Amino acid sequence: MKLSIAVASLMALASASARVYFQETFSEPESLDRWIPSKVRDDYGTIRLATGKWYGDEKAGQGLQLASEARFYAYSAKLDRNFNTKGKDLVLQFTVKYEQIIDCGGAYLKLLPPSHDPAKFDGDSEYAVMFGPDVCGQANRRVHAILNYNGKNYDNKKEILPRTDQLTHQYTFWVKPDQTFEIHIDNKLQANGTLEDFYDALPPREIPDPDAKKPDDWVDEASIIDPSDKKPDDWVDGPARIPDPDAKKPDDWDDDMDGDWEPPMIANPEYKGEWKPRKVPNPAYKGQWVPPNIPNPNYESDEDFGAYVIGYVGLDIWTVKAGTIIDNILVTDDIDYASEFGNTTWANYVKAEIESLEKYEEEEAKSLSEEYDKLKTESDKGKSKGADEEEDVVDELEKDELDEEEEEEEEEEEVEKNVTEAEKEEEAEPEDEDEDELEDEQTEEDEIKDKDDELEDEQTEDEDKPQDEYARDEL
Ligand SMILES: *[C@@H]1O[C@H](CO)[C@@H](O)[C@H](O)[C@H]1NC(C)=O
Ligand SMILES: *[C@@H]1O[C@H](CO)[C@@H](O)[C@H](O)[C@H]1NC(C)=O
Ligand SMILES: *[C@@H]1O[C@H](CO)[C@@H](O)[C@H](O)[C@H]1NC(C)=O
Repeated sequence: MKLSIAVASLMALASASARVYFQETFSEPESLDRWIPSKVRDDYGTIRLATGKWYGDEKAGQGLQLASEARFYAYSAKLDRNFNTKGKDLVLQFTVKYEQIIDCGGAYLKLLPPSHDPAKFDGDSEYAVMFGPDVCGQANRRVHAILNYNGKNYDNKKEILPRTDQLTHQYTFWVKPDQTFEIHIDNKLQANGTLEDFYDALPPREIPDPDAKKPDDWVDEASIIDPSDKKPDDWVDGPARIPDPDAKKPDDWDDDMDGDWEPPMIANPEYKGEWKPRKVPNPAYKGQWVPPNIPNPNYESDEDFGAYVIGYVGLDIWTVKAGTIIDNILVTDDIDYASEFGNTTWANYVKAEIESLEKYEEEEAKSLSEEYDKLKTESDKGKSKGADEEEDVVDELEKDELDEEEEEEEEEEEVEKNVTEAEKEEEAEPEDEDEDELEDEQTEEDEIKDKDDELEDEQTEDEDKPQDEYARDEL
């Protein structure tokens, strides 16, 4: 209740120009009613309203939870009114909590055109924007921030890691009318820049001059032989082996029988190897030659890049384990409104949520140790009753443990199987881009990643912290 009042007064406070096209805090029993399931498949996962096992506020923490294991989800909800973003800020913001330990699953949203048909919603449906975290195993973790341009989807070149602990985190994507963008997690800037630089949608402004030639007098030898270096007079460069000067012809050597005596060879102690003059930096060195850049004749700016007409927000994902809670969804043209909305929702309860999670973890640990103590007492009782019974109890305990291990193994296998299935399914849904382009993008992504890695190396202290702890400290 407190929250609804806060949000209501916030809406009253928001600047007159702020427009909210979609806002969903999932606080009301009928909050899911506007989410229309797709009819493309008949086995979609179910969504439900849930707060989860820990929360900062029982009502405000309630969100849309993915309730089925190993399922696709395809649901869409209509905006309050269509949103033509041209000349306006576009802000998509929402929160994600992985109540399960996330192993493989998406938690991103799509902004879809007004022509979108919820019943036909699937991975091939055209969208304007796709934004949010996507996790599969340790290797595939990123926050997508995909923009559609002329029917093709382009992901942001900057690799942003999602938060994968069990707390609620807020993701914000802000596309500005001057064709720049910002991505925030928990109000902290993760990436910003121009759309042109961070998406390979438009041809580059400049290209290396294809007609440029390396000048004949270009010196690209970094080092040269030092002309002043001379072989020292006492340098012994041979032979490597010499007859042993200390060897003596044995007294009983018979030249007739044994042939001419020759002393054995030993390594020459004076020998220094082949003499090589030292190398020095070349004073004439000009560096590696690269052709100069020229304006790209094929470059054309496009003021419509990053501008869309949006009619729906959609959830089109796969998850292996159930439990993800998506909440506080906002589509607006006002970043200040988004900031204040975040302050009155997520930021308002996240600290209490940390305490709640810690309490939950303590209770879990306590109930585990109580269970252990109980079993132990039973086993001790068994001991005093006699050897046979004791054995029974111990057998029973060991059997329990074995059963548990087996179950865990089976579960792990199943998860792995489901992960592979998910991968297969994803492969079956081809990306819009053709392979060459994908490859190009990948090498470029790799380069960016290398740079990022270098940067991250400088922050090893943070790196070494488990992500969960890191997130708690940060919040
Ligand atoms: C990105 O953010 C930095 C730091 O706030 C700022 O200095 C820079 O101007 C921003 N760049 C763009 C293109 O907005
Ligand atoms: C939201 O809270 C942050 C941190 O307290 C503050 O800097 C920001 O101005 C707030 N946003 C609005 C719109 O009041
Ligand atoms: C794996 O998928 C099957 C259905 O395909 C489901 O019954 C099972 O619960 C899933 N297992 C896990 C651990 O997610």
